[in-house]
Amino acid sequence: MRIYKVGGAVRDRLLGKPVTDIDWVVVGATTEEMLAKGFRPVGADFPVFLHPKSGEEYALARTERKSGRGYGGFTFHANPEVTLEEDLIRRDLTINAMAEDDQQNLTDPYHGQRDLEARLLRHVSPAFAEDPLRVLRVARFAARYAALGFTVAPETLELMRQLSESGELEALTPERSWKEISRALMEDQPQVFVEVLRACGALKVLMPEVDALFGVPQPPAHHPEIDTGAHTLSVLQQAATHKQPLTVRWACLLHDLGKGLTPEEEWPRHIAHEFKGLKLIKAVNERFKVPRDCQELALLVGEYHTHGHRALELKPSTLLELLQSFDVYRRPQRFEEFIAACEMDARGRKGLESKNYPQADYLRGAATAARSVAVQPLLEKGFKGPELGEAIKRERLKALKAYKETAST
Ligand code: CTP
Repeated sequence: MRIYKVGGAVRDRLLGKPVTDIDWVVVGATTEEMLAKGFRPVGADFPVFLHPKSGEEYALARTERKSGRGYGGFTFHANPEVTLEEDLIRRDLTINAMAEDDQQNLTDPYHGQRDLEARLLRHVSPAFAEDPLRVLRVARFAARYAALGFTVAPETLELMRQLSESGELEALTPERSWKEISRALMEDQPQVFVEVLRACGALKVLMPEVDALFGVPQPPAHHPEIDTGAHTLSVLQQAATHKQPLTVRWACLLHDLGKGLTPEEEWPRHIAHEFKGLKLIKAVNERFKVPRDCQELALLVGEYHTHGHRALELKPSTLLELLQSFDVYRRPQRFEEFIAACEMDARGRKGLESKNYPQADYLRGAATAARSVAVQPLLEKGFKGPELGEAIKRERLKALKAYKETAST
C-alpha cells in the first residue's frame, strides 16, 4: 500500500500556513489489510480509518457514486485498484486535490499549485456537484483566504449557482450546514462567506431572511451606508475585527432581520423591526439547530439592540426591564455579549467604524448598580416569596435612579 498526505495539510503547507489536521489517503489497500494493521474503522459504510496511535484519518482511495439525494445518498467505491488520480478528481477544489508522499513529492494532476498562485478557488471536476455542502465550503474558504486575495473562479460560481437552484441545498442536514456556517463566521472575513453565498443564489435558499435585507434602505442620517444588507455585512466584519465569539457574530448576522419585512411604503423607516424580526430569527435558529447560547443571544439582540443604542436616554424602569430580560444577575456574560453586539452594530455603519460607543460602559455601570442590591437585608426585614421579589425590584430601581443621576452629572 502507498500512503499520501492530502487535502488541507498539503494546501496549507504550500500557503505557508500552520497545519493542524492531517488527512491521509491510502492507495492499493483493502479494508481487511487496514484492520489487520490496527486501524480503527470510523463508520460502517465509510472506507475511513483512524490511525491506532496518532488518531489521524486515513481514507482508502475511492471513487464516489451518487445514488440518491442528499448526503445519505452516497455509495462508496473503494478497492485497491482505485488510483490516486481517481481519488483526487472527486474532491472539491483543485487546491484541496493535491497529494504528497513522505518525501514531499507533490502529485498535482489538476493544477492546484497553479490555482494557489493565481489565488483561485476552482472546482476539480463535475463531481463537485455530488456534495452540495461544497457550496458552503467554497464560501467558507473564500472567507478564510480573502485576505490573501483568493476569489471563486467564475465557472465554479456558476456550478454553485446551478446547485443552489437545483434544490439540493435543502437536502443538507442542519448539523452539516451549521458546522460550515459556524466555522465560516469565525474566519477573519466572515462577511465574504455571506457575499459568496449571495452571489451564487445559495443565501436565498439557506437564509432567505438575510438575503431579503439587500436592497432595503435605511435612513441615511443614522445609516450612511443606507442598504440593510451592506450594513449587516459591515456589522459582521466589525465583529470579526474585534475578535468577538460565535454567539456575538451569529447575533450580528441576524439582528436586523425584521427590516426585511417592512412594507416598501414605510421605507426607509422600520417601525418595530426589532419585535417583527423575532419570528424570523427563531426560524433561522431552528432551521440549523443552532446551539442554545447562539439562539438566545440572537433573539435578545434582535429584540433589544435599539435599547442598547438608546441606553443613556432610557428611564430607570426601562433599564431595569432590560437587565431583568437578560437575567443579568445570573448571566453577566450574556449581557456583556449583548453590549458587544450593540457596539458592533453601531460601528458597522459607513464612516462611523471608529466612533466611540459610550453606551457600552453606561450599560455595564447599570448592571453593576442593579447587581449591587443585597438580598440579605431584605430577608432580614422579613420579606419572602413574591413580596421579596417586589422588594428586590424596588431596591434595584432605586439603585438605577441613583446611577442615572450620578452618570449624568
Ligand atoms: N473534501 C471534499 N469535499 C467535502 C469535504 C472534504 O472534497 N465535502 C476533501 C477535500 O480534498 C479536503 C479534504 O477532503 O481538502 C479534507 O477535508 P476537511 O478536513 O473537511 O477540510 P480541509 O480541506 O482539511 O480544510 P480545513 O482546513 O477547513 O479543515
